Amino acid sequence: MNESKTIILAAGQGTRMRSQKSKVLHQVCEKNILDYVIDASKGSGIDAIAVIVGYQAEEVEKSLCPGIAAILQKEQLGTGHAVLQALPFFKELKGNLIVLVGDAPLIRPETIKGLVTEHEARGHGATVLSAEFQDPTGYGRMVKNYKGELLKIVEEGDATVEEKKIREINSGMYCFDAQTLIRSLQELNTNNTQGEYYLTDVIEIMGKLGKTTGTYVTPDYEDIKAINSKVQLSEVTAIMRKRINTKLMDNGVVMIDPAATYISNEVMVGQDSTLYPGVILEGKTVIGKDCLIGANSRLVNAIIGNQVTIRNSTILDSSVDDNTSVGPYAYIRPGSRIGKHCKVGDFVEVKNSTMADGAKAAHLTYIGDGDVGENVNLGCGTVFVNYDGKKKDRTVVEKNAFIGCNTNLIAPVTVKEGSYIAAGSTITDDVPEDSLAIARARQVNKVGYLKK
Ligand code: UD1
Ligand code: CA
Repeated sequence: MNESKTIILAAGQGTRMRSQKSKVLHQVCEKNILDYVIDASKGSGIDAIAVIVGYQAEEVEKSLCPGIAAILQKEQLGTGHAVLQALPFFKELKGNLIVLVGDAPLIRPETIKGLVTEHEARGHGATVLSAEFQDPTGYGRMVKNYKGELLKIVEEGDATVEEKKIREINSGMYCFDAQTLIRSLQELNTNNTQGEYYLTDVIEIMGKLGKTTGTYVTPDYEDIKAINSKVQLSEVTAIMRKRINTKLMDNGVVMIDPAATYISNEVMVGQDSTLYPGVILEGKTVIGKDCLIGANSRLVNAIIGNQVTIRNSTILDSSVDDNTSVGPYAYIRPGSRIGKHCKVGDFVEVKNSTMADGAKAAHLTYIGDGDVGENVNLGCGTVFVNYDGKKKDRTVVEKNAFIGCNTNLIAPVTVKEGSYIAAGSTITDDVPEDSLAIARARQVNKVGYLKK
């Protein structure tokens, strides 16, 4: 491959998105649309990348990873005008200038490489990445002669009835010979329905300059699907989700219904783990091997060990170690670390707490700002009373302690190793080791009271 640089067009507002936010900052599977294009470009082995920014330039520039240049297009006068703003970036370039659009995140490195290889093999002035679309509406059409040679690209708004019938469309992505492009850009005008400088016009111009142009038809048309509206955002998201899920299944993950499994792009799942429908895995969630993630569980930045079972539960910014079972209907909130062989049962909420190996809270329990020792058993209805209306305090339950049902532990408080708390107690003072604490009124039976 000759020396190559890439520019990514991302200055437009994306009016059809009907959004306050720049189109390229919308997310697909929790990653900015623009970042997908940048990553694909990096993966294709390019020497330098610049992004053309305009609408919300500051926000878009801020989103760029280090090493990616931003070039300002003050007014958005069209795709040709956008490329012209980057002239200093590729003026000296003897090789290829690749132009990508910031709103087509499904593009893959292999496709860009294929485009460049084709371009270099034919020695064209420009090679356009194209595809056959069932419904070409909205895209520029590739106009070819009877020999199949590319003559020009016509935008939908400027196309004749005959041209509109053409199903081969322009992806908006190209590989140019940089120096030929520079010469052609000088000839652009705004004689079209949108009154813009169309980059697409350079194809016809190159023809007049005696340069050949051609197309690289991608076999995978999904690669070039662009996002111009919220409907297309959902369509592209569905394709991306399918790609993510397929890759995971190829690596050994079981999915009962992939179409109803929602996994973000950075998530990792180990072999033979099974995901039920309605599972949502977000952020940097990592799931080990042989886990069962039951229906409608949502995990965000969760680190899950091996052979963990999670049913109908939510886990946020927390970890759960091997062989532990969570749910149904458990809520593990940020800052929690659950050990091995633990049980966090139904209607148990854990927040900013640790549970050491073998600790159990089988049902209806609130563990807030607590440290629960090894093999502790928290009875049904245990409440860590962590908030006095002003500040939060910690509760410590040391190993092998047994907390009877319906106990309030008023923080700050410590229950020492091996102690028992009688059911229904409200514990305000520390409990020494191996003791039984009872903190409730003694029952009084008034015999025959109601007969009187
Ligand atoms: C463009 C192509 C069309 C192609 C389609 C593929 C032109 C004239 N048309 O149309 O042939 O089928 O892409 O998706 O090129 N942008 C700028 N500055 C501008 C204008 C646009 O940076 O002044 C950026 C936009 O942010 C966007 C990209 O260029 O990322 C494409 O612009 P858009 O307005 O979406 O072009 P289309 O009408 O879709
Ligand atoms: Ca577009």
